[in-house]
Amino acid sequence: MPTPRVADAFHDIAADLDYPMVVVTTSDGTERAGCLIGFLAQCSIDPPLLMVWMSKRNHTTRVAAAATSLLVHFPSRDERELAVLFGSQTGDEVDKFSRCRWEPGPEGLPLLSDCSRWVAGHIVERVDTGDHVGHLLEPFDGAAGAWASAQLGFQSVKDVEPGHSP
Ligand SMILES: Cc1cc2nc3c(=O)[nH]c(=O)nc-3n(C[C@H](O)[C@H](O)[C@H](O)COP(=O)(O)O)c2cc1C
Repeated sequence: MPTPRVADAFHDIAADLDYPMVVVTTSDGTERAGCLIGFLAQCSIDPPLLMVWMSKRNHTTRVAAAATSLLVHFPSRDERELAVLFGSQTGDEVDKFSRCRWEPGPEGLPLLSDCSRWVAGHIVERVDTGDHVGHLLEPFDGAAGAWASAQLGFQSVKDVEPGHSP
């Protein structure tokens, strides 16, 4: 385990980064789920692979456990309200999809209508990484529409209280 000094240094560095924020949605065929995520990374070029990490406490993670794919939306700063909805509320208590515009997307995944940039990926591996689960995604569909404005970064939403503690 890192010493408190090292843990504090790591926390301070991470808190100042402006990594991209995405909204991940999924469905297991009966239930829809989605949450705001900052832990993601492209991890291969050829084949293209993407990894997203979701807290074991999230409703979305539980639904994703029985799902075969995830849809990763890349909101712009204009879609901050959508990001706040998916980051500050939990599907354990509210139906977030009754509060936003969405449509059935590839493989029945919920596609958020206001996001022009998204990637749908098959879950090819799940990795236990502490209090989060990494989902390795192989993209099979996507769209790279025009940004409404600049990409939404962590600094624009770090004041939002998460619907679930990590
Ligand atoms: C700025 C910010 C970043 C977040 N990053 C992540 C993340 O990387 N992974 C994650 O699982 N949850 C993350 N969350 C928390 C979830 O979005 C939040 O707890 C959400 O309410 C969970 O919804 P659910 O229970 O319906 O899945 C973040 C929340 C905020 C506000």
